[in-house]
Amino acid sequence: MEHIILIGFMGSGKTTIGKRLAKATGWTFTDTDERIEKAQGTSISAMFAERGEQYFRDLETDMLKTLQSEEEPLVISVGGGLPVRAENRKLMRELGKVVYLTADVETLMHRLRGDRTRPMLQSGVSLKDRIEELMAARGALYEDAADVKVATDGKSRETIVNEILDALRSQ
Ligand code: S3P
Repeated sequence: MEHIILIGFMGSGKTTIGKRLAKATGWTFTDTDERIEKAQGTSISAMFAERGEQYFRDLETDMLKTLQSEEEPLVISVGGGLPVRAENRKLMRELGKVVYLTADVETLMHRLRGDRTRPMLQSGVSLKDRIEELMAARGALYEDAADVKVATDGKSRETIVNEILDALRSQ
């Protein structure tokens, strides 16, 4: 099945845009973080605190495997750290078209300021430094995973959705 998979940094708009994209295509929206939390009956923060990051990362890989058997077309939003694992990038390629949503550091800071739900941001260093540090580690991996890339800065949701659809059509 050729699903649409949205990747990108925390705060890049994967969930918001994914829901809009699902509406525009008539496909069903799903989110790996939400599915994992539901299946585990607990929050991502609690999983990180009680079981550690690797436990959560293994659940992300398992979730991608579970999604392989979905029959209906889906718009899938995945966690910002999921594409870091090479196995996950391969599994996403098998699942369908991968769309990378980008955002400038300033945009991300604006969207993530004050967030307490994302354990990867509770590191003690400034938000700007943490975003830059993680982006430096992840940017090339997002690029590697992506079939298409769409910048979100300063654009309306409608524009972003239309740009994604155009980019996928011209694939
Ligand atoms: C993470 C991003 C989060 C969530 C978890 C780890 C990351 O998802 O999966 O907190 O490592 O970037 P969002 O990108 O939806 O915030």
